[in-house]
Amino acid sequence: MAMVEWFEFQVPGKVICSEHCVDSVGAELDKVGGTRALLVTDEGVQKVGIDGAVREGMDSGGAEIVATFDKVPPNSELKVVQACYDAAKAAAADSIISVGGGSVIDTAKGTAILMAEGGELLDHESAVFTPSSPMPPHVAVPTTAGTGSEATFIAVIADHEQMIKLIFQGPALSPTVAMLDPVMTRTLPPHLTASTGMDALSHCVEALHTEMNEPICDGLAFYGIRLVNRNILAAFNDGADLDARKYMLIAAYLGGVAFTNTFVGAIHAMAHSLGGRFGVPHGIAIAILLPYGMEFNLRYVDEGVPAKYRLMAEALELDIAGDDDETAARKAIDHIRKLGGELGLPSKLSEVGVPEDGIEAATEDSMVDGCMFNNPGEPEFEEIEELFRQAY
Ligand SMILES: [Fe+2]
Repeated sequence: MAMVEWFEFQVPGKVICSEHCVDSVGAELDKVGGTRALLVTDEGVQKVGIDGAVREGMDSGGAEIVATFDKVPPNSELKVVQACYDAAKAAAADSIISVGGGSVIDTAKGTAILMAEGGELLDHESAVFTPSSPMPPHVAVPTTAGTGSEATFIAVIADHEQMIKLIFQGPALSPTVAMLDPVMTRTLPPHLTASTGMDALSHCVEALHTEMNEPICDGLAFYGIRLVNRNILAAFNDGADLDARKYMLIAAYLGGVAFTNTFVGAIHAMAHSLGGRFGVPHGIAIAILLPYGMEFNLRYVDEGVPAKYRLMAEALELDIAGDDDETAARKAIDHIRKLGGELGLPSKLSEVGVPEDGIEAATEDSMVDGCMFNNPGEPEFEEIEELFRQAY
């Protein structure tokens, strides 16, 4: 495969990983200058009480939690970010601790933009967000191993009026500290462990072959794929397996670092449109689309996709000795499809409430999603519409 001629790579903030590392969340917030923190979370996290460990961990430092915003829905939206910012403002918060999945962490990122800039979030949608004043410190504690938002420079926020997902991006959006504590993911139910884990896998897969892929991210993605493959079934079958939980968090983080540099492609463009238009949870949309999208992308031989999927087959530890790239790639795709079945995930869009007459509109949304432009080749409208129909 051809070596990339030029690339740039940026690293996100500090990462801490261990069982019970949130016990030191207060000390970590002190180190990055936070004194009055807004805790951003959701009702699911509050219900199982895992935010309690973070609250207790505040005793390790001098900072305090001055307000809690727990109204983050699964697909966060502009109004939610505004309400979260209002809570920060009312409490004179100077920092954020986010405890939750991607939607919670992305809401915290959007709130951080408003804490630095004021105005409305839509005012700050640009190719690369560059703050005009310092961003508030943000400590992210993921409770899923999937989106990798704790590692990325990206926030995905729905705009319900336009029925699309907006993407805010820029290195300033990276959380200052990510605390990967497997204990915080122990209560995640099996179906969410499965769908979010497939999202993590998809970030690694798409990072391998986007237009912006490069060797550093190949390395991150390779190991991310291996860790998901070795640990997702264990975490799914026994949520209390903290080693599996920890490796899944690391895999999600690796995928996040990879794709925040390389971006993702058509599979994510299509999943965004299904989330924005029909409310399909991101991980579910991804789990369904991933094998179909990989099969689609096999046509981009000159762009090196089959060779990249061979690398993926190696990461999956499949027997590909003597196989050509396409045969190895198809073994990788078959493996992903089988894995989805073992995890009890749906395999068709018709199973998750997508109306068949909505495919055209979803295709239209996908074609203008920024991720589509980063897919190998230049997929045509008719090709993406056909891909949706295959997955239907
Ligand atoms: Fe994703």
